[in-house]
Amino acid sequence: MTSFDPDPAQLRSLKDKVVVLTGGANGIGAATVNLFAKSGALIVFGDLDVPAGEKLASNHENGRIHFLRTDVTKYVDNLELFRLALKTYGRVDHALSIAGIVEQGNILDPALTIDDVEKPPTNIVIDVNLVGPLYFVRVAVAYLKHNKQPTDDKSILLFSSVAGFYDSPGLFAYGASKHGVLGLMRCLRHYLPPTFGIRVNAIAPFGTATAMLPQAITNGFPKIGVPVNTPEQVAGVTLGVVAGSHKGKNAEYMAQIGLGAEGGPCNGLTVYVESGKGWELEEGLAATRAEWQGEGPNERLLKANAWLASGAAWTEDQ
Ligand SMILES: NC(=O)c1ccc[n+]([C@@H]2O[C@H](COP(=O)([O-])OP(=O)(O)OC[C@H]3O[C@@H](n4cnc5c(N)ncnc54)[C@H](O)[C@@H]3O)[C@@H](O)[C@H]2O)c1
Repeated sequence: MTSFDPDPAQLRSLKDKVVVLTGGANGIGAATVNLFAKSGALIVFGDLDVPAGEKLASNHENGRIHFLRTDVTKYVDNLELFRLALKTYGRVDHALSIAGIVEQGNILDPALTIDDVEKPPTNIVIDVNLVGPLYFVRVAVAYLKHNKQPTDDKSILLFSSVAGFYDSPGLFAYGASKHGVLGLMRCLRHYLPPTFGIRVNAIAPFGTATAMLPQAITNGFPKIGVPVNTPEQVAGVTLGVVAGSHKGKNAEYMAQIGLGAEGGPCNGLTVYVESGKGWELEEGLAATRAEWQGEGPNERLLKANAWLASGAAWTEDQ
């Protein structure tokens, strides 16, 4: 795994960049809003938590930060957030989908009987963590490409989790949604740079001390020598990715998974955040692909992907 070390100098490039993000009222999102504000960015953020969102925005009384009540599961709310940014600042440069919720109850409770399962469970976790980002991305792409000049750096950043690539027993809907977010990023990273000149990446934090993590876990992990992140540490890595700060073996890895050079070295990454530091996962996965997938299957799949990338479309009529 390649360590991801954001270049502090690069954060200065975020000055006056227009950033739209969801989930900004609390936890990692709030720390991200604060760090963007410190870097001189112009911010529009949305969240369901109105008191916390308004309080955070009022802490930065300089007209450079705006809050809008947003429910990411509502398509129109995603739209309103980007409309506000365009109306206020005339463009959008970077879009971050951070809002998320943890597992709600146990859909596989051992006590469930055949009578209990007559009633379907709600899909709120999938709605917030996966449908929300899908809506967000659709709207974000249209706003990021609007009036974009060829040299403008535009990006999307999606929030996954350690539960997006590692087995997390009990987190059935949460784990599935966060795997889904990584899947979404992996599909977008081939498409957005050549089509729109937009980079896309994902952040996948380990346990982070926010309201989402039960206190027993926040306190328990350090006792067994496993530190939890602070929201500020995750925000630091997040801004590094948005600023395009990556010095890995990206060119080699991009070729291995059939990614073109259009996205540059900071496209298509999954940055795991643990012990307050970033670790890039995709290079290692790509470099060892023939090993874990098998040489023949890997060769044929790369060929199939290259052919699909040359113009064949999944959505064409048969
Ligand atoms: N805390 C962790 O251990 C951890 C680990 C891995 C990934 N993450 C991910 O990081 C992101 C931020 O989580 P956090 O730890 O800061 O949690 P948090 O609970 O502190 O913050 C989440 C924010 O999302 C908002 N939100 C929830 N539902 C919403 C909706 N429908 N529309 C708009 N906003 C909504 C909440 O009001 C809250 O402000 C999430 O995507 C989460 O899954 C967190």
